Amino acid sequence: MSTSSTSSVIGASVTRVDGRLKVTGAARYAVDHPIENVAYGYGVSSTIANGKITQIDTSAAERMPGVLAILHHGNTDPLFRTAGPLQPNSRPSESRPPFEDDVVYYYGQFVALVVANTFEQAQDAAFHVKVTYDEKKPLVHLDDVPAPAGPPVKNYTRGKADEAFESAPVKIDETYITPVETHNPMEMHGTIAVWNGDKVTLYETSQGVMNHQGVMSEMLGVPLDRVQVISPFCGSGFGGKLFPWPHSLLAAMAARRLDRPVKVSVPRALMFTTVGHRPLTRQRVRLGATPDGKLTAIIHDVLNHTSHTDDIMENCTEPTPLLYSCPNVAAAQRLVKLNVGTPTPMRGPGACPGLFALESALDELAVKMKIDPLDLRLRNYAEIDESEGHPFSSKHLREAYQAGAERFGWSKRTPGIGSMRKGDEILGWGVGTATWSAGRGAAEVRVRLMADGTARASSATQDIGTGTYTVFAQVVSDKTGIPVERIEVVLGDSSLPPGPTSGGSTATASVLPAISAASTAAIEALLKASVRADQSPFKGADPATLAMTAGRVHVKEKSPETGIPFEQILKMSRLAALEGNGKSVPSHEAHKVTAQSFGAHFVEVAWDPGIARLRVSRVLSVFDVGRVINQKTARNQILGAVVMGIGMGMFEETIYDPRNGKPINNNFADYIVSTNADIPELDCIFLDYPDSAMGEYGARGIGEIGLTGVAPAMAMATYHATGVRVRELPIRIEKLMQRGMA
Ligand code: MOS
Repeated sequence: MSTSSTSSVIGASVTRVDGRLKVTGAARYAVDHPIENVAYGYGVSSTIANGKITQIDTSAAERMPGVLAILHHGNTDPLFRTAGPLQPNSRPSESRPPFEDDVVYYYGQFVALVVANTFEQAQDAAFHVKVTYDEKKPLVHLDDVPAPAGPPVKNYTRGKADEAFESAPVKIDETYITPVETHNPMEMHGTIAVWNGDKVTLYETSQGVMNHQGVMSEMLGVPLDRVQVISPFCGSGFGGKLFPWPHSLLAAMAARRLDRPVKVSVPRALMFTTVGHRPLTRQRVRLGATPDGKLTAIIHDVLNHTSHTDDIMENCTEPTPLLYSCPNVAAAQRLVKLNVGTPTPMRGPGACPGLFALESALDELAVKMKIDPLDLRLRNYAEIDESEGHPFSSKHLREAYQAGAERFGWSKRTPGIGSMRKGDEILGWGVGTATWSAGRGAAEVRVRLMADGTARASSATQDIGTGTYTVFAQVVSDKTGIPVERIEVVLGDSSLPPGPTSGGSTATASVLPAISAASTAAIEALLKASVRADQSPFKGADPATLAMTAGRVHVKEKSPETGIPFEQILKMSRLAALEGNGKSVPSHEAHKVTAQSFGAHFVEVAWDPGIARLRVSRVLSVFDVGRVINQKTARNQILGAVVMGIGMGMFEETIYDPRNGKPINNNFADYIVSTNADIPELDCIFLDYPDSAMGEYGARGIGEIGLTGVAPAMAMATYHATGVRVRELPIRIEKLMQRGMA
């Protein structure tokens, strides 16, 4: 109480504090850091997807101008493997270190690295390295490989789902497919590695500088304190930058060999092969229901591909046991191995494709039973987390549905296919439930109060574009009353106090308690100094009688104006700064509550059958994500996710050539992401109920949930408009033409 000011900065629309740096170009991408004497590494990528390297002929390339070295498995010592799940901050994206042996597992795998004085020299020479292979037939589609035998890698059951389904009076049994999607952040992957004696510094674009540091330490065989990872800005990641990829190791390996800084960039085309993707999923959903639309059985069987080097499960069944009330649920996941690079989480992993299947099936049930799709969801509303038998810590999904329905005008929806017209267009309306678990991890933060009247907060987490810098400044401002513009936030450096990975929508919830505690500790140190300095008006007082408000130290009982600015205390004490440290601890399941976020997307599509044009014409999203710390950056997260969701619904799909496993649409002409022209007016409402399970500020994560539920709402709306049920994303107009053009 004595050290908190309940300012209005929490929950305000605070403009991002790094915004100016970004719009002026002062915020650097990883490979734009100006490093003296840097050499350029360019990867030679395999042109087969399955087989062995028989020869690497570097003779022509070595004679080319500026070439310094050509590294490959035949002339480098193998790197180490990581401890992986055996120790924290130890997860690479690919468990196999690059150049470990002569085996090729996927098209685009690095088989050599050319290092030269300039980028152009390296690139040119890379195309003159002749690699010959012993090629085997690549297996790149689910149909290429037999269905997996043996037990599932994940299996959830409650009740007797098979029996309940068999005896259900109403049944749905359909299969849904979501394609491979590729992360395409603005900033492509890239690393600059600089060795200084036995210490290496890596300039990275990373969602987790601590994990990156840990992995590099293990795989390079260098103690942790001799690896520093710096990623002050990140041109977004969407999950693709959670864990290190091979190019980072290659940069470090080459720089060590040459004793010279080396930069390795991943060009856009290789963004489709060597740095992960959301895997393809094939999901069979069986629903059983009573004649009044009450679910009696949910059976969700998921298959996703992974690579030959790693077992990555796309956790589609994560929301299945808890989203709806149902006594009998079975959910199983299986993997098949294909000759593609290792998949990795992509924004809303698991839940996004999983909810496409589950929500689509629910809509099919609604259509079959002639029940309004929103009404069907309300009839099966889960009051508690039935998978755990726990209450939810804070769930307001019913209000989200109702607020959304009211604002959207849902009651005007007429159920008949093609029954809602507007000029030449047929409108379709769909609703999709969104959900995401609310996690919270460990974090440490340092806050310094400075003699120049500023404050500085630091932690080895990072801002991947979501607004983490700004949230830090808001909390320090809330606690100290120092204005946001006088608070410097330092992130993205593994040498700072340990911070969390920006993943799973957990970063904000993880750092908030640590920022709060560090601010409080810094204020306590300041108040102690206030009673010791000779010229201080508080000399000899009990620090417990003092407070810091609006950046001023004052007697608690009196108003802040009666006190003095905090920097005067520091000056009187001849101290440059006083600091406090704070920690967050992970949330524990022992609480017997489930912290989960919810939301609903209301989507309108407009189908013009005359010209076969489908577009999304309106989206309203209502979210229950705990307390919103920053209205502006939170809204930005949800609207951005809806833009990405429209891409998932209508455009995004990575297509592999069956002959060689090459992604044939590995560029922005052929891999379509949403552009402004595809995006209608978007709106978003936050219910803003603080969740006490998330601590003092009551905030749950917000980065990923906005993408969940968009694509199924689009498929539902498309069915409503056209009568064509698209069960395989993306919804292309070709899939609508048989019916829609008739
Ligand atoms: Mo998220 S897919 O954990 O960046």
